[in-house]
Amino acid sequence: MIPESFIQELLNRVDIVDVVDKSVPLKKAGSNYSACCPFHNEKSPSFTVSPTKQFYHCFGCGAHGTAIGFLMEYQGLSFVEAVHELAKMVGMIVPQETRDNPRPAQKEIPGLLETMQQAAFFYKAELKKSTRAIEYLKGRGLSGQVAARFQIGYAPPGWQNLQAVFPHYDSDVLQTAGLVVENEQGKRYDRFRDRIMFPIHDQKGQVIGFGGRVIDPEDTPKYYNSPETPLFQKGHELYGLFLARRGIRDAGRALVVEGYMDVVALAQYGIEYAVAALGTATTPYHITKLMRQTDEIVFCFDGDAAGRTAAWRAAMNALPALTDGLQLRFLFLPKEHDPDSYVREFGKEAFEAAMQTALPLSQYIIQNLGADNPLQSQEDKVQFLNAAEPILKQIQAPRLALLLRKRIAELTGVTLDEMQGMIKMPSLDQRPGRAAPRQSRTTVSLHRRFVLMLLMQASLAREEDLQWLHGQGEDDMMVRAVIETALLNPQSNPAALLHQLEKHLDARMLREIQRELHILDETLDIALEFEGARKQLREIYSQRKHAKLLDSLSEKSLSQLTEEERALLRTIRGR
Ligand code: UTP
Ligand code: MN
Repeated sequence: MIPESFIQELLNRVDIVDVVDKSVPLKKAGSNYSACCPFHNEKSPSFTVSPTKQFYHCFGCGAHGTAIGFLMEYQGLSFVEAVHELAKMVGMIVPQETRDNPRPAQKEIPGLLETMQQAAFFYKAELKKSTRAIEYLKGRGLSGQVAARFQIGYAPPGWQNLQAVFPHYDSDVLQTAGLVVENEQGKRYDRFRDRIMFPIHDQKGQVIGFGGRVIDPEDTPKYYNSPETPLFQKGHELYGLFLARRGIRDAGRALVVEGYMDVVALAQYGIEYAVAALGTATTPYHITKLMRQTDEIVFCFDGDAAGRTAAWRAAMNALPALTDGLQLRFLFLPKEHDPDSYVREFGKEAFEAAMQTALPLSQYIIQNLGADNPLQSQEDKVQFLNAAEPILKQIQAPRLALLLRKRIAELTGVTLDEMQGMIKMPSLDQRPGRAAPRQSRTTVSLHRRFVLMLLMQASLAREEDLQWLHGQGEDDMMVRAVIETALLNPQSNPAALLHQLEKHLDARMLREIQRELHILDETLDIALEFEGARKQLREIYSQRKHAKLLDSLSEKSLSQLTEEERALLRTIRGR
């Protein structure tokens, strides 16, 4: 865990303009900076970065966030990775994380990344020299262009070719990187020999592993991959994700396929949003990683029995990661095809048309559960419920869970209540506060205005603001949280304050505030506006208090009132 105080300091220290400008060159436009949005396709710039608010915001696609958020979105980094990256830019040292860090930080293993990169260069250069390897790739229909894009290489035959690149062939780093293997006699040799090499990149584009394919169909195994290393964990990485980021953004979806060659062939035919799990089942980790980039994921599987098994595994693994905003769909190709052969035979349009017919997850689950269950006898229905139970237990997404429960209850002829009685399922988060009637529009906007001004200039907050504030409604809580945060961080910029508020406010409200903050006129006199909002808000709260008091009067006799209440009553009557 990184201390919150550090994140505050970091967000106050970095300048989002520098951060964004590194990847997306910005132009000054009034008090903001602007560019064509890197998160969607556009011709005229609607992406703006505000130096005072320290946010970016796109009026076209709604993308928005802080410097941390930008790195997460743009480079596909995790929160922790983004914090490290930013800290590096401004020369701050991230305090030691005490728990939750099973993966050694990459900088603790100097040379590992460089080693992998050098090996990749070597393999790439070797490909140019090998007519056999080139012929093989050509035979599979790959263009030189796409081979270059994926940095495909070739590991020549022979036992110690890497010695030519690494004079210290005996150093630990080569073994740790998984590039050499040591036999029982302590003799070292190259792991990959006479194989087409597919470098595997992390989300920063650094080589962290390789997959190597045989050329001779007699050789086994067909694919040989890097072992698990400090850089590379199969269950976490997706082949092609780094190169597909842009494609995923443009298409608004990611396509998950099974093989290296599928990803490469699809890219060659213009489908640039495909990634592959590395010969393992899709993990919840994979899903979470993809969800950071898109909310539509299509899984594409071979039509054979192995493909069907893999699809079901993927669906089951996805369950814990599901949210209501995410669309998962399953596409099954005809038996004799994989994505590679399909796109070659029928082309991009046909492939994308097929994708339109992909089965939504819930439908797929129902179909699969019912595949060899006619749901006729009581026993059939019991069996169906038994099979559904572990699935229902894992889904946390409220709407999806409810709809699926209903459908399953319906199919087995029980009511939802009866089914809930039989199966212990997670209670769905239906937030009672949500359904509560909203206060009048003007009240909401006044609360908001107060909050927006305070976020712009936290030093305006006063302890006494907490005195007149009362109530437990959504807006009351919002105002209280913002005042408290501002009092604690009087010098923080809006982005840093909002980050702090993530703990206290729900995500929908934060999004709204952030959006409103963005369109806030920069030329406003913040202090003046704030004073005005404070005065009006105080008035509203005092009126509310009076109304409540008058209400309670009908139930209480005067003698039951507190001294304070009596005084208040006198002032109301005096009006
Ligand atoms: P496939 O055999 O479907 O791969 O295995 P593919 O990409 O279609 O292979 P070719 O080149 O067109 O024949 C799917 C994935 O499973 C992993 C690899 O990641 C492969 O891309 N795999 C497969 C292995 O790790 N080892 C193997 O021996 C075979
Ligand atoms: Mn294939």
